[in-house]
Amino acid sequence: MQQYLEIRDVHAREILDSRGNPTVEASVIVLNHGDGQLYEGLADVPSGASTGKFEAVELRDGETRYFGLGVQHAVKNVNEKIASVLIGRNALEQILIDRILMETDGTENKGNLGANATLSVSMAVAKAAATALNLSLYRYLGGIAPRLLPVPMMNILNGGRHAANTVDFQEFMIMPVQAETFADGLKICAEIYHNLKKILQDRNLSTGVGDEGGFAPDLPDAESVLTLIVEAVEAAGYTPGQDIKIAMDAASSELYNEKTGMYHFPGESKQKGQEVVRNTEDMICYYEQLVEQFPIVSIEDGLAEEDWDGWKELTARLGESVQLVGDDLFVTNTKRLDAGIKLQVANAILVKVNQIGTLSEAFEAVEMAHKNGYKAIISHRSGETEDTTIADIAVALNTGQIKTGAPCRSDRVAKYNRLLRIEEELEQAAQYMEPFKKI
Ligand code: PGA
Ligand code: ZN
Repeated sequence: MQQYLEIRDVHAREILDSRGNPTVEASVIVLNHGDGQLYEGLADVPSGASTGKFEAVELRDGETRYFGLGVQHAVKNVNEKIASVLIGRNALEQILIDRILMETDGTENKGNLGANATLSVSMAVAKAAATALNLSLYRYLGGIAPRLLPVPMMNILNGGRHAANTVDFQEFMIMPVQAETFADGLKICAEIYHNLKKILQDRNLSTGVGDEGGFAPDLPDAESVLTLIVEAVEAAGYTPGQDIKIAMDAASSELYNEKTGMYHFPGESKQKGQEVVRNTEDMICYYEQLVEQFPIVSIEDGLAEEDWDGWKELTARLGESVQLVGDDLFVTNTKRLDAGIKLQVANAILVKVNQIGTLSEAFEAVEMAHKNGYKAIISHRSGETEDTTIADIAVALNTGQIKTGAPCRSDRVAKYNRLLRIEEELEQAAQYMEPFKKI
């Protein structure tokens, strides 16, 4: 007979995220009929700033408290509607539980209950089950498969919607691809981060940080950011292009203007004293030029979420040599990913659990990606909490890459620290490798 971890209680509360905005935390209590003990799973939901148009609904109260950002309705949905359909269920049946969450919501986009309500419970159920079985979360989620520690895509310079500076592209990341271990990779990134700080200080540039802990100085364009990063890599004693590769998240849906059909660069315009706009072809040429000049191996959301034709062209031109990641484009949604695969658009998906609202749907997105030769990158949101579930997911599913910010701010560092513990726990079984190497 299958073990029975009976869900006894489902309770949510409103907590704060790293930006000081409310978010949902859920607690799920299970009774392990094997040992007669109660176990708790606690999970917090992250929140984006540059959210994709096609993401599942993040239910906000829209009342005066917290400027409309309260989540009391989502909390109530957990405490009443979700609790009433899940109490008594077996927490081991994650797929069934997620399906019940979807059916109770009854919409395509979790518009009734809110994806923040469903995700909090979906994750808390898994965490309660893992705890009741005395298993690490990655082991519970991945069984015998987990072995690959992800290469960090460490966002050391923030722009776009994540900072108030003039950098228009949202994220500039370093990837320690030649490190021996995850711990070694983390050390290399932190050393480069501190060298970058010193370089910025020496030039009287701001060392204040953005939402994801990366520095956020005023700089004129992507080239000047990338030049500084290359300098920081060298100053730390590493070789750009060899030890360290660079990834960018242009988050270009935020730059795209539907009326003009063009990408507008407000920071670059301000710094250069003239309006800078680019059309789709200009954008692709711009990336080609940047890839030529700098060791860039990955570009996320290079074009806007609805520019499928542009994406097709971008993939044809750069897809062989560069990882092209769909974030706002795919929104962790298998329908959109399937459409992208059929159109030969992008070659990787960014997976953010709250874009879809249940754990098993996010897992399906990773599975679909892997089956079709696409990479999957597990990712945080710009609004985070102390919850480290994504670190366990990255290892459980052997995605080989994780995006979780700078080595700064505990909401980011908590995930890296969790990965250090996992690497230690896996001992000899742990692997760390360059994700772009053809094997
Ligand atoms: P978000 O940013 O969480 O604000 O959406 C992260 C990203 O775009 O990858
Ligand atoms: Zn993104």
